[in-house]
Amino acid sequence: MNIVQSVEEMQQIMQDLRGKGKSIGFVPTMGFLHEGHLQLLRNCKAENEISVLSIFVNPLQFGPNEDFDSYPRDIERDEALARNAGVDILFYPSKDEMYKNNMSTRITVVDRVDVLCGEKRKGHFDGVATVLIKLFNIVTPHKAYFGMKDAQQVAVVDGLIKDFNIPVELVPVETIREEDGLAKSSRNVYLSNLERKEAPHLYQSLMCGKQAIEDGERSVGIIKQAVSKHILEHTSGKIDYVEVLSYPELEQINEIQEKVIIALAVKFTKARLIDNITLVVPNN
Ligand code: PAF
Repeated sequence: MNIVQSVEEMQQIMQDLRGKGKSIGFVPTMGFLHEGHLQLLRNCKAENEISVLSIFVNPLQFGPNEDFDSYPRDIERDEALARNAGVDILFYPSKDEMYKNNMSTRITVVDRVDVLCGEKRKGHFDGVATVLIKLFNIVTPHKAYFGMKDAQQVAVVDGLIKDFNIPVELVPVETIREEDGLAKSSRNVYLSNLERKEAPHLYQSLMCGKQAIEDGERSVGIIKQAVSKHILEHTSGKIDYVEVLSYPELEQINEIQEKVIIALAVKFTKARLIDNITLVVPNN
């Protein structure tokens, strides 16, 4: 595995590989790799000749009161996991290397951000979009892999790629789940034993919503109620939101339409869990 820290060297390497006609897959991350990232890398490896992983904790996507400084970092462990996953190139730039010109230009994401988790993280997706434009220009991948656990990020990246005609194929990868359905997350360890037993009901609540749609229910209000009812009856968590929106536009809707997302965030004592499913609904 080649570890590259310089933008210039990275661009040179990628230009050579492209010149040789290699297909390039890219998994952008902020490191502290977990099973979700490894799944992205497995898909990337299977579908491309060259797999590139980036690890960069991007300061632009953290708000002033967020955890940029305490964000978990363990590059040695990440390097070992990346090697094991068959990564060919690990791009690991410093903050100064990425933002050496202090950025006279930034991206502002205008749609798809004032809902779900974005509503409470003002500016977060501007930072994500800005760093991704840089990373796409440096790595020049054919395909880029993103986990559907963060479906809002996938929707924003979809908009970014289309709006700026970026020649990258976005590959959304299904959420990895525990056997009981709970979406894998590094935050699951903060659940108490009882909460861990309750938590699979979050996924089951999404399944209740899906079932209602499959049974012909088209009212978003009624579907949201069914999902919320299941959460309240089976967990001690506090609902932060339960939303049913169009996908990937993330617009509020009253009636179920062709492609929708059912998304939730629930607060337990020490962990706030999110989960979602997207559905393609046949026209009646
Ligand atoms: O999902 C992440 O880890 C980050 O938002 C990303 C896409 C690497 C951009 O910094």
